[in-house]
Amino acid sequence: MDVYLDPGALADQLATDVRAGLTASPKTLPPKYFYDARGSELFDEITRLPEYYPTRTERAILDEHAQDIAEITRAETLVELGSGTSEKTRLLLRALRATGTLARFVPFDVDPAVLKDASAAVADEFPGLDVQPVVGDFERHLHSLPVSPRRLLAFLGSTIGNLDPAQRAGFLGAVRSTLEVGDAFLLGTDLVKAPSRLIAAYDDAAGVTAAFNKNVLTVVNRDLGADFDPDEFDHVAAWHGEHEWIEMRLRSRQEQAVHIDALDLVVRFARGEELRTEISAKFRRETVERELSAAGLRLTHWWTDPAGDFALSLSVPG
Ligand SMILES: C[S@@+](CC[C@H](N)C(=O)[O-])C[C@H]1O[C@@H](n2cnc3c(N)ncnc32)[C@H](O)[C@@H]1O
Repeated sequence: MDVYLDPGALADQLATDVRAGLTASPKTLPPKYFYDARGSELFDEITRLPEYYPTRTERAILDEHAQDIAEITRAETLVELGSGTSEKTRLLLRALRATGTLARFVPFDVDPAVLKDASAAVADEFPGLDVQPVVGDFERHLHSLPVSPRRLLAFLGSTIGNLDPAQRAGFLGAVRSTLEVGDAFLLGTDLVKAPSRLIAAYDDAAGVTAAFNKNVLTVVNRDLGADFDPDEFDHVAAWHGEHEWIEMRLRSRQEQAVHIDALDLVVRFARGEELRTEISAKFRRETVERELSAAGLRLTHWWTDPAGDFALSLSVPG
């Protein structure tokens, strides 16, 4: 496993981000800290919830178009950013195998635990495939990705929606810089739809998303010696109409003080005060095309499900 982000560097970054986010007003924490081994398991559970349509919809689009993607790109290396369990990715791997071009798979994720399991499962299913997992941060380490001919860079699950517009511009610029002629970028984006469906997808009846949201508090407790009581916070999912994004927040049930030993910091919450833990932006075709184009990427294909809930786009440098 290639490690661009070792546990020490991740802990330093966590300390910096937690100090900045919890002393800001309003308080925020970056979503990448949901994903320790437990957080990745919870996310995997989320993908199977009846309310969480994005995963099954993206899988259905891949089911229908993976062979087209394989024939168009003829990729020799598939790099998957924020790869998680790489479940849906197998559809792409199978199609690229059938086309006869695929030699290497590079799953890239911030969580080493999910990477280890997913890489072993893919290596098992695809004998002879060179699987080279990378632990890294896709906002910081794209320039270190191995360079080889005909790479397909995939970023599925609408994880791009967790970045705000400025972060997306930085991220897409880094994607563009790493791509060479002959490479392509496959992007999954969740599309704007009725807020009631969106809110249900982020506030399921079984409470799995609530547990996932609170997992960030457990991570801060464990890695920075904090004393958050997750039961003293309520999970909130809200639609922000102007920005067209879902916000996940944790609302303090009462006035409370949280101690973070490693930062020598006391953080005070008023009763009802909300800590924002994630945005999940929803997209329109024009926005995706415009943001890709601003980064120097040209959209060549756009595939959606019949209801227009989710889109996969393919773009190339230029
Ligand atoms: C929303 S999940 C999507 C997982 C999978 N791609 C899918 O479509 O189901 C986001 C994934 O990105 C990873 N991740 C989040 N922030 C990251 C970052 N800054 N750098 C690398 N991986 C990150 C998480 O560990 C998680 O596996």
